[in-house]
Amino acid sequence: MSKHDSSRRNFLKGVGIAGAGAAITDHLWTEAEAKEEQQTTAYGASGDIKVVLNVNGQQRTVQVEPRTTLLNALRNHLEPAVTGPKLVCDMGTCGACTVLLDGKPAYSCLVLALDAANKKITTVEGLGTPENPNAVQAAFVEHDALMCGFCTPGFVTTISAYLKKNPNPSLAEVREACKGNFCRCGTYPRVFEAALAAARKGSQI
Ligand code: FES
Ligand code: FES
Repeated sequence: MSKHDSSRRNFLKGVGIAGAGAAITDHLWTEAEAKEEQQTTAYGASGDIKVVLNVNGQQRTVQVEPRTTLLNALRNHLEPAVTGPKLVCDMGTCGACTVLLDGKPAYSCLVLALDAANKKITTVEGLGTPENPNAVQAAFVEHDALMCGFCTPGFVTTISAYLKKNPNPSLAEVREACKGNFCRCGTYPRVFEAALAAARKGSQI
């Protein structure tokens, strides 16, 4: 409890809130302080905390420092690790770490693992399997839409989410949808080609 909170409580008592009224007020303050302390513990603690993440439909528990990003938790703290999302810039500019949070693309290097608890996290691994890829994954293979492949999970994830929203996009719309993902190898024409091909097979996304 901070000195400030303590003096607020003393002030309320001192101005004559008597009997049952004071008891209720005191009780309410104590509850509010306990809640505040719980939140402070979660975000401000230096030790590891337990976080339960829903990753690709599975409940996964990690022990991490509160400052740990979702990307770091996925790649370095889960056992087995989830390494589809890649660490490239670590500052929210390249999109290599893109995952879906409740279906929406997000840079997992900018999200705290703690803040991803209670959300449905989908990584590129959750979109399909090598035996049963989704339409975007299959189109990337078919159209040879990668070189080094570092940006690929991010593009596939972004495009898979976008085609659910807009199943019949134009080239310009695909380019716009991918503006948060960078490919340093310059594979853009094939990435866009694959996205449009996947859209034509929309039912499999
Ligand atoms: S690694 Fe997250 S945006 Fe680049
Ligand atoms: S394929 Fe190498 S960064 Fe895109």
